[in-house]
Amino acid sequence: MAHLNQEEIIAEVKRNNEIVSVISEYVTLKERGRSHLGLCPFHQEKTPSFTVSRDKQLYHCFGCGAGGDVISFIMQLENLTFPQALRFLAERANLDVSLSALETPGMKKAKQEQEWVFRLHHLAAAYYRKVLSDPAMGRKARAYLEARGIKPQTVEEFFLGYAPPSWTALVELLRKKGISLDRAEKAGLVIGGAEGFYNRFRDRLIFPIMTPQGKTAAFGARIMGEGQPKYLNSPDTPVFHKGKYLYGLYQAREAIRAAGKAVIVEGYLDVIQAHQAGIEYVVASLGTALTRDQIKTLKRYTQQVVIAYDADSAGQAATVRGLDLLRQEGVDVRVAKLPAGDDPDTLIKREGKEAFVQTIAEAKDLFSFKLEYLLQHAEISTAEGKAKAVKKVLPLLARVDSVVAREAYIKTLAQEIGVSEEAIYIEWRRFWDNLRKNKQRLDIRQAARYTKPEFTQTNNSFRLTQNSGVLSNTKGETTNFQLEREVLRGCLQENNNLERINEALSGIKWSNQQYEALFDNLLHIAEVGGDWPPTESKINPELRFLFAELMAENELSPLPVDLEGCFRQIKRNQLIREIQQIQKEIAVTAEEKEGKPLSSGELQEKLLLLNELHKQLRQEFSSFSGLI
Ligand code: CTP
Ligand code: MN
Repeated sequence: MAHLNQEEIIAEVKRNNEIVSVISEYVTLKERGRSHLGLCPFHQEKTPSFTVSRDKQLYHCFGCGAGGDVISFIMQLENLTFPQALRFLAERANLDVSLSALETPGMKKAKQEQEWVFRLHHLAAAYYRKVLSDPAMGRKARAYLEARGIKPQTVEEFFLGYAPPSWTALVELLRKKGISLDRAEKAGLVIGGAEGFYNRFRDRLIFPIMTPQGKTAAFGARIMGEGQPKYLNSPDTPVFHKGKYLYGLYQAREAIRAAGKAVIVEGYLDVIQAHQAGIEYVVASLGTALTRDQIKTLKRYTQQVVIAYDADSAGQAATVRGLDLLRQEGVDVRVAKLPAGDDPDTLIKREGKEAFVQTIAEAKDLFSFKLEYLLQHAEISTAEGKAKAVKKVLPLLARVDSVVAREAYIKTLAQEIGVSEEAIYIEWRRFWDNLRKNKQRLDIRQAARYTKPEFTQTNNSFRLTQNSGVLSNTKGETTNFQLEREVLRGCLQENNNLERINEALSGIKWSNQQYEALFDNLLHIAEVGGDWPPTESKINPELRFLFAELMAENELSPLPVDLEGCFRQIKRNQLIREIQQIQKEIAVTAEEKEGKPLSSGELQEKLLLLNELHKQLRQEFSSFSGLI
């Protein structure tokens, strides 16, 4: 099929994947008239509202509004990008599809750029390794590694290297090979200054950060001895940004699969030391909080994760944030408790492999860990303090699904705080009733369903697959529910976030009245001045429950909210919504159905606007998402 263009490939894939037979592999369908009917796989339902039409080769759910062709079905259900879904279906039908035919020129260019960055890193990594093994040049670095207990074999396994003190050694090498230094700068290896290019990494130990497939994407570089910064990392490049990869995953992949779990540590040397000791299912998040990218990647290998961060407070705060993300992604999370002052590196070196293995085995489940964390930071010697502590734990209990587990937790809580179980039960019921009432009022929350943005590609344009990339409720309306919640949390964290938020979100409609009301309320309170966050008594009574929930969430995730990220996504979703609205209007005109049709002038205008919105969205899309 290599000779076909992309449009022809898409047609060929669809022709060979009859929609009823594909969907039947996932959903039990019953024939009814001209269509097939079943339970929708995209939302929870008891009576079937999911229909598939053999004639039209389309599906549609009357319940949640999901719909599309066989390709978008696979994208949504298998959580794949458009090219991935196409390949998936091509393989299902035993077709031979050349993927490169599916890429737009823009995508091809981005991919070529990425390839360049990888190639340059490959070259640089080889150079740093050579310097490390050079008898004279590498002596100091080898001595440092030896002093830290890293064996030569481990050095090889992790492709460690050494960047010499020279300001221009790598620059010269690249020049000699005829490689563009501008390109090397884009890759983050050299820096262009007033007096020409110079090496980014000098007199530092080099840790290559690799993709799970073993391509070098970036470097971490440690100073040997005292000095700042201790670690210098590659800047953002077309293949790397902070939090994109897990260090050591390439070396740990198979062990993670075999062990059925992964251990996440903080640092390079923690990973290396653990591997050297024979504990190979260990990777590092490199820095502080775990990111969604990292969790998504890890989920391809295991559903069970143990976090083993330093016991210090920064480590704990980071842990708590990462835990929430992991839980949201459905990963079974446990938290190991390292002795105070230790990281896995020091623990293994001092007490041996077994000590670390045991720490992992004794890791606590999420609730117990959070409970302990909360109680450590609560004042439970007074009656008031006890009441406060219980209040903070209630939102945690709400996340425990099993009644049996909840009972056990309540027992522990009662013991820890020193109150009766009955008292906690009473508080719990009150909290739960409130929560339910509130949930019904908001309704949207239960029904909300998040799907990843996906794009259907036709010729050179992208079309957003219906209902993707946005939260949609049962009515099929799109909302930014979770994002707005994050933004509100950010409001409560810092008074001066309010102005930023107000500015960034001007012109954007809040998806939920309560959220908007709370934001207004907070703006008013901030104008008056006083402590931040404000006390509950200053909040409008009907908003206090939401306020308390957000305060509790902040308590458990004390790291700053990624406001810029939220703004970006909210704006993107707004764009998507506008596009959907306009598409709807245009469709009505095209079919000349009910409602007054648009005049051709209006239509022209809409089409122009649609194009413009598509362009904006495409720019957004390509700026923060890799190819496949
Ligand atoms: N880190 C970083 N930049 C810094 C400090 C830390 O990127 N300036 C990341 C590194 O990935 C580091 C991890 O955070 O490995 C943990 O930091 P830290 O505990 O300070 O370092 P260790 O890993 O313990 O390093 P070492 O044992 O070499 O002191
Ligand atoms: Mn360390």
